[in-house]
Amino acid sequence: QVFRLEDYRPSDYLIPELDLTFRLDPERTIVTARLSIARREGVAADLPLVLDGDGLTLGQLLIDGRPAEDGAYEATPDRLTIVKPPKAQHFELTIVTRLAPANNKALMGLYVSNGVFCTQCEAEGFRRITYFLDRPDVLAVYRVRIEARKKEAPLLLSNGNPVEHGDLDDGWHYAVWHDPFPKPSYLFALVAGDLGVVRDRFVTASGRDVALAIYVEHGKEALAAYAMDALKRSMRWDEERFGREYDLDVFNIVAVSDFNMGAMENKGLNVFNDKYVLADPETATDVDFANIEAIIAHEYFHNWTGNRITCRDWFQLCLKEGLTVYRDHEFSADQRSRAVKRIAEVRTLRAHQFPEDQGPLAHPVRPRRYREINNFYTATVYEKGSEVVRMIRTILGAEAFRAGMDLYFERHDGQAVTIEDFLACFEAVSGRDLSQFSLWYHQAGTPNVTATTRYDPSAREYTVELEQSVPPTPSEARKRLMHIPLAFGLVGPDGQDMAYESVEGAAVEDSVIHLRKRRQVIRFKGVEVRPILSLNRGFSAPITLSQETSASDRLFLARHDSDLFSRWQALDTLLTKALIDASARIRGSKEPEFEAALLDCAAEIAADERLEPAYRALALTLPAEADIAREIGSNIDPDAIGAARASLRKAIAIRAHENFAALHRNLEDKGPFSPDAESAGRRALRNVLLDYLAAGSGEPALALHQFENSTNMTERMAALTVLAHQFPTSEATQKALAAFEERYRDNALVLDKWFIVQATIPGPDTVDLVRRLMEHEAFSLMNPNRVRSLIGSFASANQTGFNRVDGEGYRFLAETVLRVEAHNPQVAARLAVAFRSWRSLEKGRQEHARAALAHMAQQPELSRDLRDIVERTLA
Ligand code: ARG
Ligand code: ZN
Repeated sequence: QVFRLEDYRPSDYLIPELDLTFRLDPERTIVTARLSIARREGVAADLPLVLDGDGLTLGQLLIDGRPAEDGAYEATPDRLTIVKPPKAQHFELTIVTRLAPANNKALMGLYVSNGVFCTQCEAEGFRRITYFLDRPDVLAVYRVRIEARKKEAPLLLSNGNPVEHGDLDDGWHYAVWHDPFPKPSYLFALVAGDLGVVRDRFVTASGRDVALAIYVEHGKEALAAYAMDALKRSMRWDEERFGREYDLDVFNIVAVSDFNMGAMENKGLNVFNDKYVLADPETATDVDFANIEAIIAHEYFHNWTGNRITCRDWFQLCLKEGLTVYRDHEFSADQRSRAVKRIAEVRTLRAHQFPEDQGPLAHPVRPRRYREINNFYTATVYEKGSEVVRMIRTILGAEAFRAGMDLYFERHDGQAVTIEDFLACFEAVSGRDLSQFSLWYHQAGTPNVTATTRYDPSAREYTVELEQSVPPTPSEARKRLMHIPLAFGLVGPDGQDMAYESVEGAAVEDSVIHLRKRRQVIRFKGVEVRPILSLNRGFSAPITLSQETSASDRLFLARHDSDLFSRWQALDTLLTKALIDASARIRGSKEPEFEAALLDCAAEIAADERLEPAYRALALTLPAEADIAREIGSNIDPDAIGAARASLRKAIAIRAHENFAALHRNLEDKGPFSPDAESAGRRALRNVLLDYLAAGSGEPALALHQFENSTNMTERMAALTVLAHQFPTSEATQKALAAFEERYRDNALVLDKWFIVQATIPGPDTVDLVRRLMEHEAFSLMNPNRVRSLIGSFASANQTGFNRVDGEGYRFLAETVLRVEAHNPQVAARLAVAFRSWRSLEKGRQEHARAALAHMAQQPELSRDLRDIVERTLA
């Protein structure tokens, strides 16, 4: 079945109120749902009411309090039809269903994780709990009563505010929760179990006193301190930056160890993958701290962008996700370094969204059709969705953007709306026509812009010629012209942006060129000397840019561009070109060669004390193998790319050896660990340098020394990675891996790092290693974090391992995906996405990948999740 945007119709019935009672038992939970039903005005009284279910067993059904007669309804696992509903406009259904949460390994609906009852309902998990109109535009006020054995579940949580609690017979107890804000079923949540807690308070701008709590496994309370701090900072920031206040008396977060994704924004009760809550210097890296901060913020920000204003239907997913990602990006930029954050965002976008946009799974930010919505929680919806919001801000300016957001909150609070509603707010406050701009939501594919420049000294005129094109994507052969906002500067010989007297030929506003036609020629008049064009500053538009610029101009920008993002970009482009060239030479059995000027530029940036260390670390991080592959585009040989990257690393390391060694020593962490951005930046730089120093010397000694002496996980993990990836067979590495395993054998989240570092060892032997590690006692195919760490990182972050020339990596992945999908289709489908770039490989690997995909496609009983991915990937 295919769902289409144009088929949207409001539901005939509404459910203004819902009363839920859970009698919790791992094997036999009884759910009693009392639904107040309202027939929508104008709908015929004899129209059947069809409720969604998914694998349900109906225990009992009452209509207006009386047992439903045979023939009055039809119940299947996936549907409950009230064939002849009562004539009255308002009536009531009472539905009893029975569940076995302990056997729910798909982790959708109500399940048990590590002895804790918990739920995940987005997107369509609520229908695994009871029959309902399980769609985001049906908003109900929930009252939830939870009953459980006091010993098994002393803690009983649901959405909204606590109303009452008390004891029952036989060692049972209960609690009642009431959420005054009407919400869609996907935001429902329940948690019951025996957990430890960290508490705090937050007083909102208008004086509401909110009780905050983060629930974790007993004994892990101290690990939630950073998350709590991040939560309070998020709450304050949303008040200051967006005028958004929290609206309930309590805000609860629960960390669970079995979770299909990162976290979930259920109203007043966010449920998190424990990976994104628990942290201390001993067990978490700086990247973990930054992720926790960002995800805590993201889920909290959903309270307004997602919960108070939600999506009309799942095609509008980016309405809440793209916008909320934009908000969490801005939060992190304000908390940390804006330029560094921006570079990291763009790297992520290019690593995840660009390949999606350029492969068989490409889809618009707002898709028009889907078979399985869970497969659309993608980098395109989230990350490109965020970029589109950022472009609105670029086009409108800060003030009008904020006014548009204010109007959105005011106009649509309590509603389930669309992208059109969202855009209309910005049109209303700015008077601008955003119809061409809206193509960013509707059209898939990464636009390409080519830029050619000319300077005429006698006319003192600088000409920029821009041309746009959008490549075809599946089922969209022809594309319309986009509105592309390109921030720019004309960089003069002193590195400063040059002034010009006037400009002709295109809309240029506040250092932004608005490219709206296929081809535009822009003439800058009164330009004294030849400038260098710095284009798409800050990555103002998510495009690929083909700009004919000499290497020396790029080197100049890499040293002097006043826009730090573009400065990083200039160097990154040069490095990428050098790597592409080197990989071609390696394929032709020639030695790779690198320009000394490029090596020196990288070394110079590393040592430039005027730049923050985090920025220098990013500049020194070579483009990833997957990035190089994407730039090459077709007939890819991952081995040649891996070899090219290793040889450039070595060339830089040898040339800069002395500087790097001294810098590495100077950056040593003194004093107690602090997770703040500045300290993290210094560690990041030091760790990149370690990677170079090891490559330059060809010896594991320095890395082993750091591994054995570091006092925090960031440095320990960086050292272990250098050891395992550069010296996989050395004794030092074996020793370090064994020591790490021994030290953290009881800490699953840390052992995940140990799985990842081994799964990403480059080269053909890793597939066998991964197979062996699957037998490790800490590994389990049932736990999504374990699966993603070992299998997911092998498939998506190990180019030479996964793409082994004989196809063994593909066969292994296909076989493992099928094993996972037997109990957890969602996680299996996610893993299978690793095949998405198979067509850009060289012929031999293509054939192996196709065979592995075909093998999956031939399975008779594939889940909808996996079939959808496999068939689209093969198409
Ligand atoms: N809404 C959640 C978030 O972005 C993610 C839910 C993912 N759901 C899914 N079915 N994949 O914060
Ligand atoms: Zn989200």
